[in-house]
Amino acid sequence: MKSLLKITSRIILAASVISLAACNQSGQKTTANLNMTDTTKSTLPSAKGFEKTIDGQKTHLYLLKNKNGAEAAITNYGAHLISLLVPDENGKLTDVVLGFDDIDGYKKAMSAYYGATIGRYGNRIAKGHFVLDGKEYTLFINNKPNTLHGGKKGFNDVVWDVSQSNGQSITMTYLSKDGEEGYPGNLNVKVTYELTDENAVKISYEATTDKNTVINLTNHSYFNLNGVGSGTILDHILQLKAANYTPIDPTSIPTGEIAPVAGTPFDFTSPATIGSRINNTDTQLKNGSGYDHNFVLDKHDINTPIATATGDKSGIVLEVFTDEPGIQFYSGNFMSGSNTLLNGKTDDHRTGFCLETQHFPDSPNRPNFPSTELKPGESYKTVTIYKFSVKK
Ligand code: BGC
Repeated sequence: MKSLLKITSRIILAASVISLAACNQSGQKTTANLNMTDTTKSTLPSAKGFEKTIDGQKTHLYLLKNKNGAEAAITNYGAHLISLLVPDENGKLTDVVLGFDDIDGYKKAMSAYYGATIGRYGNRIAKGHFVLDGKEYTLFINNKPNTLHGGKKGFNDVVWDVSQSNGQSITMTYLSKDGEEGYPGNLNVKVTYELTDENAVKISYEATTDKNTVINLTNHSYFNLNGVGSGTILDHILQLKAANYTPIDPTSIPTGEIAPVAGTPFDFTSPATIGSRINNTDTQLKNGSGYDHNFVLDKHDINTPIATATGDKSGIVLEVFTDEPGIQFYSGNFMSGSNTLLNGKTDDHRTGFCLETQHFPDSPNRPNFPSTELKPGESYKTVTIYKFSVKK
């Protein structure tokens, strides 16, 4: 482990200054001071709630900061992105990612997957069943009648090893053993979060296996670009560069069809507010209880944004770049206000949305979808960038 920057002491709110004290592995302290004249300003969680031993392994809180003052908090429990402070159009640092004060918050809200790294297979596999090389595999059914986001104990609920951490990036690794959650092959997984000086969170995933397997990793951050706890996301403006999507059955499994969005409430090819058509009478919206669908990206080279969202109150703009073929747009339909987030905010209905870059749901059972197979000798590599700026 190299220069491991670990926050070991809590944020001290004193008069008009927040003092973030951190220390590296050799115990050297680093201190960053932020001016704190606005008491509504978002604050990062304290390290204490993340100092635990889970499954015999230590968990911690890690802080990234770029030269513009943007900050991200991450934990190696489930490789969660906890909090992300970026400036709004008035320069006010705003937390745009929903997260909790402590690991107990994540444990309690497990099925919401706030900010989690999802694996081995993000999204659903029909009836927890697939066939690979003629052999049948059975997975845990955690989202009746299907398996969702890795099963009973997905990558969001395991402790990752931190292999590298400096002030602007952190790399975590996890060995998912052959047979874990029913999947074949020892899978060595690596995820790196980097907070760039362009106010972007770049997430890079890598994996190798020793047996043929399936893999679909993603990040499950819920965004509210007006700030966590600031109310509905229905007035955010969204654009998705996707002329097609994959319709679902009432259990949220793709029907197999690649359908055009034109003339439907799924047409976000031109910017539209999330809420403008969400209550339309539409079988697909009914099946998803709102938007909870995979969009087929027109292009997926990492250099052009495939999704753009704008906070109506903050002017914060999120652009998503990915090399993945799909993106799950989930409008927070099952959020119910039952969880208390950082800074005492609650996760009320549709106060966060997800843009989960991915291969298509249920691909192991859909030969017409891009393949999610990974074979020994191959390396799985994929990158997603969430870049923040303000409206021009
Ligand atoms: C799924 C939703 C699910 C949410 C939280 C999303 O990726 O598509 O159906 O409710 O994750 O688990």
